[in-house]
Amino acid sequence: MTAGNNPSVYIKGVGSYVPEKILTNQDLSKVVDTSDEWIVTRTGIKERRVCENGQECSDIAVAAGRKAIESAGLHPSDIDAIIVGTITPDMIFPSTACMVQKKLGLENIPCTDVQAACTGFLYVLDMARGMLLTNHRYNNILIIGAEKLSSIIDWSDRSTCVLFGDGAGAAVIARTPAGATYGVNDIYLGADGSNPELLNIPAGGSSLTASEATLAQGQHFLKMNGKEVFKFASRVIVQASEEILNANNLSMDDVDIIIPHQANIRIIENASKAMKVPMDKFFINLDRYGNTSAASVPVAMDEAVSSGLIQAGHHVLLVAFGAGLTWGSALVKWH
Ligand code: UT7
Repeated sequence: MTAGNNPSVYIKGVGSYVPEKILTNQDLSKVVDTSDEWIVTRTGIKERRVCENGQECSDIAVAAGRKAIESAGLHPSDIDAIIVGTITPDMIFPSTACMVQKKLGLENIPCTDVQAACTGFLYVLDMARGMLLTNHRYNNILIIGAEKLSSIIDWSDRSTCVLFGDGAGAAVIARTPAGATYGVNDIYLGADGSNPELLNIPAGGSSLTASEATLAQGQHFLKMNGKEVFKFASRVIVQASEEILNANNLSMDDVDIIIPHQANIRIIENASKAMKVPMDKFFINLDRYGNTSAASVPVAMDEAVSSGLIQAGHHVLLVAFGAGLTWGSALVKWH
């Protein structure tokens, strides 16, 4: 595979963490009018993880981050910056990245959050790449996708509560050693803010501040137009994959494994058909975790590495889409 861009940074270590508590489709069928059969047929999801009371987004982010640091052969003190992709920060501010810094016992290094919903990990990957290549102060940047989506779900809305779960995935990004051919070859990102209402939380920001009325109307919960988002996702997963392959003069035959955002098995099946790529090229874990938004891609990537599906020399395609609407893809040659 010859890519258009120099692989100037690489994924030095990966890690993930999901809460221990499992919520099955059977459990949900006792809370809302749904069934295991409907959820599995329409989404592929069988169960998801949810945080325990008191377990914060930054806690699971730290758990994933520690594993990524260890897998990179580093100590937390080697980390020069932290970027967290999340739509479920511990608080609106300060950033969850600052909470992660505190819990890792670090000081002074820059920390910030990025909000690109389910595409969050690809956005933070590109930002880490930019920081490493333009500022000599950074050598190892910890990037994390972490979500406690259980905190923003309306557990009485069957059209959304069956879809989402909690989890965190992390990676340490560093400059590729001189002469090495592995690393992040290219990243492609996009967004279309023209229809924010397709997937959002209407209240609690500065536009519609939290009040008794917004609380009574449940406007502090995640809202989604599932059908429209499904159409967008089925289209953009193909477009983002083809865009980055074409830009690098590559085809799907050059790709060893695809790590897609884990939203709905039917979206991945549609992509498989449209791109004429066998389903076994896509890594799938949505049956066990549901949609974990920004955590989805890094958790899947970590599991693909630890199960031996991603190995040195493999060409990996990451692809994601989500609220905003946002989308993105990345081409990585594993080390
Ligand atoms: O990560 C961000 C990206 N998000 C996504 O990619 C999600 C994209 N959207 C989807 O995955 C799908 O649209 C859903 C899984 C959310 C819904 O699947 P669908 O096949 O589009 O179902 P639908 O909304 O058309 O609903 C079909 C029926 C409706 O009943 P009627 O009106 O036909 O009588 C719904 O009320 O299924 C009903 N329904 C349910 N039934 C049992 C909706 N949710 C449920 C449920 N259990 N949980």
